[in-house]
Amino acid sequence: MKRTLGVCYYPEHWPEDRWPLDAAQMVAAGLSWVRIGEFAWSRLEPAPGDLQFDWLDRAIDVLGTAGLKVILGTPTATPPRWMLERHPDMLAWDGEGRPRDFGSRRHYCFSHLGYRADAVRITRILAERYGANPHVAAWQTDNEYGCHDTSVSYSPAARSGFQIWLAARYGTVEALNAAWGNIFWSMEYGSFDEVDLPNLTVTEPNPAHVLDFRRYTSDQVVAFNRAQVEEIRAQSAAPIIHNYMGRETGFDHFDVGADLDVASWDSYPLGFLEDRSDMDDEWKRRFARQGDPDFQAFHHDLYRAVGRGRWWVMEQQPGPVNWAPYNPAPLPGMIRLWSHEAFAHGAESVVYFRWRQAPFAQEQMHAGLLRPDAEPAPALGEARQVADELSKLDGVETGPSAVGLVFDYISAWAWQAQPQGAAFDYFRLVFETYRGLRRLGLSVDILPPDTDDLSDHRLVLIPGLFAWPDALRSAVERFEGVCLAGPRTGSRTENFRIPDPLPPQMPGVPCIVERTETLRPDMPEPLVESGHLTVWRDCLSGAAPVIERTRDGLPARMGTARRQFLAGWPDEEAMGRILRDCAQEAGLETLDLQDGLRVRDCDAMRVVFNYSTDPCDISDLSGTSGDMLDPADVRWLHRG
Ligand code: GAL
Repeated sequence: MKRTLGVCYYPEHWPEDRWPLDAAQMVAAGLSWVRIGEFAWSRLEPAPGDLQFDWLDRAIDVLGTAGLKVILGTPTATPPRWMLERHPDMLAWDGEGRPRDFGSRRHYCFSHLGYRADAVRITRILAERYGANPHVAAWQTDNEYGCHDTSVSYSPAARSGFQIWLAARYGTVEALNAAWGNIFWSMEYGSFDEVDLPNLTVTEPNPAHVLDFRRYTSDQVVAFNRAQVEEIRAQSAAPIIHNYMGRETGFDHFDVGADLDVASWDSYPLGFLEDRSDMDDEWKRRFARQGDPDFQAFHHDLYRAVGRGRWWVMEQQPGPVNWAPYNPAPLPGMIRLWSHEAFAHGAESVVYFRWRQAPFAQEQMHAGLLRPDAEPAPALGEARQVADELSKLDGVETGPSAVGLVFDYISAWAWQAQPQGAAFDYFRLVFETYRGLRRLGLSVDILPPDTDDLSDHRLVLIPGLFAWPDALRSAVERFEGVCLAGPRTGSRTENFRIPDPLPPQMPGVPCIVERTETLRPDMPEPLVESGHLTVWRDCLSGAAPVIERTRDGLPARMGTARRQFLAGWPDEEAMGRILRDCAQEAGLETLDLQDGLRVRDCDAMRVVFNYSTDPCDISDLSGTSGDMLDPADVRWLHRG
């Protein structure tokens, strides 16, 4: 595979006579892609039906003639102000029942069919006009579905759409009442049009109601995206991409991905560390200029799965961002490191956000490759360096990894509806498992929950899975490697009921969860061997052998060497020990990496990253004594 770089550009922000110079400088920096158009609707159609595409024709021509390939975005994340006159009820509503108004972006409700029709209309116009344009070599649908918490909307449009969706799912309202258990608290409905959205209830709504609403919500994102994809495909053979947002679980990214050719995500390592990490201040301070050493990698692996092998970074942080609580500058070298890391995980392209810092509006404090005065910012030189280094990676492929880790959006929604303990967070549980694997130097494939074949892997982890999909359960049955599931895995049916027989119903592990308790942060349960269970504890009994116990004598892990159920959420110490046990049983070689150091195996190469602020000794990895890797440096090593 040949890897490439690109940049996000907003020709509508700059005088037209600047475009050729920008294009020439992009080419000189070694960039081959330029993404444009995704927020330009008010210039493409300043008034309803008044199409002004000449400027975009010229922009594409200038960029393309300079030698760049254009990724054309559909502008549907930013409907212009007049759209609200046309569809006064198109806004999303928050959980308090307030419309989320015009004046920034993403101010639409996915359920509003009138707006959806306009989104399809503008997509069709773009696809018809540029579908055969030789410079338009890829498409992006919308921009970051779900960003700013915009998947879920409690609008009237969502209410009526949900009722129709429920009628299609259940057929009769009696079936819905039975599935949800609405006899409880006399919540039974007499018809589908009585069903409200699960917000503004006196106390918690029925979790089955919430989960179905989240499924419905996700289906609307899928439908919104699919409608655009169909228009583009009808006119263009170029790949269709969406740029997902980090740590975003508002809709099922796998389901949206099924309609795309390539998945991509927007990687803001420093913004994400400050804005959406569960780690403490000491950790944030340590990695403030580098980003969390596992966060990017997790998303790279996730989107490789979402894109069924084809994925990009569509936006790469180039310097300080504007939107996190604190916005430090990256350590020199990190732009290069982040880019190489994406390539080691199999990215086809890394696209920097953005070309030139905008001196106006919301993101004027957000760095670009150029400063506001068009002089180079520090990231430009690093991008240039990556471009120079890329040819060395030609032909290096990222194949399947020995370790698989299941990630499931439905579980994220279900456990948001029913955390049971304030600290239970599904993303965090999966991510901590991922971090534990990476500390052991293991490379990981993220697996969707409907995976029906595990034979590429030797070790598979299934933490916190809401309900067993049949395909996955039978894949576990047939799997010849080591599988560790739990805590909480398989603990509900898809209708949000406790199964009978009791969970976990894990193939090969005859045991049941008799009772569950959640633990305060100050009451971790010590394990006999080492470490603790925290947050969550399944109290197990049954015929399966006990592998280890908590100090109070209850089973903490049951099963056999190859099939195990873990009864709680392990702390860092226990996570490391248990994962190492499992990896050894699976015959995998493990390392013991300090937190600044990470590796990713990629074909015949092992890529080493130094996320710390000090040089790291990598002699053991490179086989050269005294071999030090500088802070923010990367090394591609041939695996022995
Ligand atoms: C992304 C978004 C971009 C830009 C960027 C700033 O989430 O897609 O349009 O806002 O953040 O970091």
